[in-house]
Amino acid sequence: MDYHAKTIILHIDPATPEPDRIAQAAEVLRAGGLVAFPTETVYGLGADALNATALDRIYLAKRRPASDPLIAHIADATQLALLAADVPYAAQRLAAAFWPGPLTMVLRRAERVPANIAAGMDTVAVRMPIHPIARALIAAAGTPIAAPSANTFTRPSATTAAHVLEDLYGRVDVVIDGGATPLGVESTVIDLTGAHPVVLRPGGLILSDLQRILPDITSEQRFLAEGEAATSPGQLTKHYAPRARVMLYDGAPQAVREAIADTAQRYLANGRRVGARIIALGARADKAAIARVLFGAMRALDGQGVDVILVPLLDGDGLGEAIRDRLLRAAEGRVYRVGGSEA
Ligand code: TXA
Ligand code: MG
Repeated sequence: MDYHAKTIILHIDPATPEPDRIAQAAEVLRAGGLVAFPTETVYGLGADALNATALDRIYLAKRRPASDPLIAHIADATQLALLAADVPYAAQRLAAAFWPGPLTMVLRRAERVPANIAAGMDTVAVRMPIHPIARALIAAAGTPIAAPSANTFTRPSATTAAHVLEDLYGRVDVVIDGGATPLGVESTVIDLTGAHPVVLRPGGLILSDLQRILPDITSEQRFLAEGEAATSPGQLTKHYAPRARVMLYDGAPQAVREAIADTAQRYLANGRRVGARIIALGARADKAAIARVLFGAMRALDGQGVDVILVPLLDGDGLGEAIRDRLLRAAEGRVYRVGGSEA
């Protein structure tokens, strides 16, 4: 039996959010309900970050294991002091440089913050989004808002309200429709609780920008081998996965094109349905454009009922690092290397 019987859809202008509709959604959050809303990265599934019961509802609605922690979203710096036990100098510098924006910082958790926001760990992940609807909603709620991506667990993240409704209709109180999210990939998650800052998840804020502020930052996302236990969250290899089997091809562009064409033909000859258009090969340089359409393309191909999705693996420069990461997870780590090395 689902907790929510009915989902209200609120259309809100992403440039100048209507205050009365924001107030309506904020009231639901204050009462412990669930509101899905757009951010500049992907849609979030929001609840009062200081209300343990409301946080439990997020895990339930997403069918998310309690071991996978949530990000707390804030509208201004005073809310950071509510959440973090301390804010190290490196975090202050990152916040000054990149907030509001697609940066999430893992800090030591203040005692007032319920432990189930962080799956029982003594940390809390915090982000100040820049999307006008997200900012207005958090400010109107008057409390930090916990929000994972508004998709069902292991499904591709939602970049439109239609995606959110696909996964969560009837499981949340309100879905704000504020149009497509501008970036299309999630925020960059950085752990600032250790001796050195570490990137746990590449995302919308790219590594070279981070290195300008913190030259000693390192990147530590990795993929679990089969049967290996997670030592920190976000390492699940199967994540952001469409229902179809995703096959990645790495190598010189011409060899990749040929391999994809050959494989597509083989599958088609066997009566299988093939999707091969997530990344148009000609447009591989425009990473921002790829990031915007990536999750939507996976969902659309799933909707068409394809059996396999064939994708060229692009280079890891700039936003490419986040895109590669999401593709590798969607493909559960399988990469076919063809025709020698990258040209
Ligand atoms: O762009 C985004 O970050 C979006 C929008 C809605 O803000 N949110 C999002 O949330 O992607 P979610 O829950 O799908 O991903 C949160 C990531 C996960 O990899 C999680 O493991 C990590 O952040 N995370 C959250 N809290 C953490 C903590 N205390 N320690 C380590 N990692 C944490
Ligand atoms: Mg997610």
